[in-house]
Amino acid sequence: MDWWPGDVSPKAKLGCPEGATPGDVSMEAKLGCPEGATPGDVSMEAKLGCPDGATMADFDHWFEPLADHMGSAYLRYSFTKGTDNEVDAILQLARRVWSADGTASEPPAIRNLRVLDVGCGPGRHSLALARRGCTVLGVDIAERFVDLATEAATAQGLAHCRFLRVDAANLLADHPDLAGSFDLVVSLCQGAFGVSGGPVAPRSPATLELDEPILTTMARAARPGGLVVVSAFSAYFQARHRDEGDSFDAESGVNHEHTEVMDDDGRVMQAELWTTCYTPRELRLLARAVGLHPLAVHGVSPGRYGERPPTPDDHEFLLVARRRR
Ligand SMILES: C[S@@+](CC[C@H](N)C(=O)[O-])C[C@H]1O[C@@H](n2cnc3c(N)ncnc32)[C@H](O)[C@@H]1O
Repeated sequence: MDWWPGDVSPKAKLGCPEGATPGDVSMEAKLGCPEGATPGDVSMEAKLGCPDGATMADFDHWFEPLADHMGSAYLRYSFTKGTDNEVDAILQLARRVWSADGTASEPPAIRNLRVLDVGCGPGRHSLALARRGCTVLGVDIAERFVDLATEAATAQGLAHCRFLRVDAANLLADHPDLAGSFDLVVSLCQGAFGVSGGPVAPRSPATLELDEPILTTMARAARPGGLVVVSAFSAYFQARHRDEGDSFDAESGVNHEHTEVMDDDGRVMQAELWTTCYTPRELRLLARAVGLHPLAVHGVSPGRYGERPPTPDDHEFLLVARRRR
C-alpha cells in the first residue's frame, strides 16, 4: 500500500517534473552516494535528507527533514486534492451532532467556529475551514510547513487563520490558555496522530504508547461538548494489502516503509515512513482512555469522507468523538 493511497500514478504522486520518472535516476544517484558506494553505505541521516552535518538529533520528529525537502511539492500529492470534500463532510457532521443537542448554548452555525488543526502540514484544511468562516489555529512540528501555511493565509487575506510551530503533545504545556477553547479539533491525514512511531524499537514503550499524548492534547483543547475528529490508517487494510518492502509490526500496528519524495524541482529524496494503523475498536478505546466520548467511526479515504460504516477494505477510519460536558 502507498503511504498515501490515491488514484494516480506513482510518478504523479511523487510530483515528478514533466518527462522525468522516479525510475530515471539510479538508487545510488538518488541517495547522493559517492562513486562506488551503494545505498547500504548511506547513513540514516542521509536517507532522511538531513542537511550536511545534521543528524536526527537536530530534529524533534522524523517528518521534519521530509517536510524540509518537499516544501510546497507536498501539495502535488493526489491525496491532498480532496480537501474541500473532507472539510465539508466534517462540518456537516459537526452541524448534525450539535443540532441534535437542541440547546441554545451550542453553536448553531459553522461561521465563527473555533477550530484547532493538529499536524496541519502546509495548512490545506485550516485554510479551507477559514475560507468558510471558521477561526483556525493550525499547529505543526515542521517549520517549513508552518511557514508555507502562514504565507498562504496572508496571500488569501485570512487573518483569522494562524499557524504555530509546536509539538502537538506539548501544545497545552506551552500554551495553557488554549485548553478547553476549541469547538472542533481535527487531525487529518496522519497529522501528528498516526506518525508518532518512528526509528525506535517497535516494542519499546515509546512505540506502543504512540499517539496517546496527541489525542490527550486534542481532548483537552476541545471545549466541553466540543468535537474531536481524527483520521487514521486501517490496520485491516494494511495487513491485507501489504506492499513488497513494507514491514508491518503486528504488536504496535506500525507500518514501516521506504519511499521517495520530491521537491519542487523534482529532486528525489529517499524517505523512511512509520505509520501507525488502527482498528475502529482501538480508536474508540483510545478515545475513551483520554476522556472522550466516541460517537462514531466511519470508513473513509482521501477526498471521500462521509458517514459510512467501516469495512475491512477502507483505507482509513474517521473517529468522531466528543469531549464530555
Ligand atoms: C502526513 S502530514 C499531514 C498534514 C495535513 N494534516 C494534511 O492533511 O495534509 C503529517 C503532518 O504531521 C506533522 N506532525 C507529525 N508529528 C507531529 C507532532 N508531534 N506535532 C505536530 N505536528 C506533527 C508533520 O510535520 C506533518 O506536517
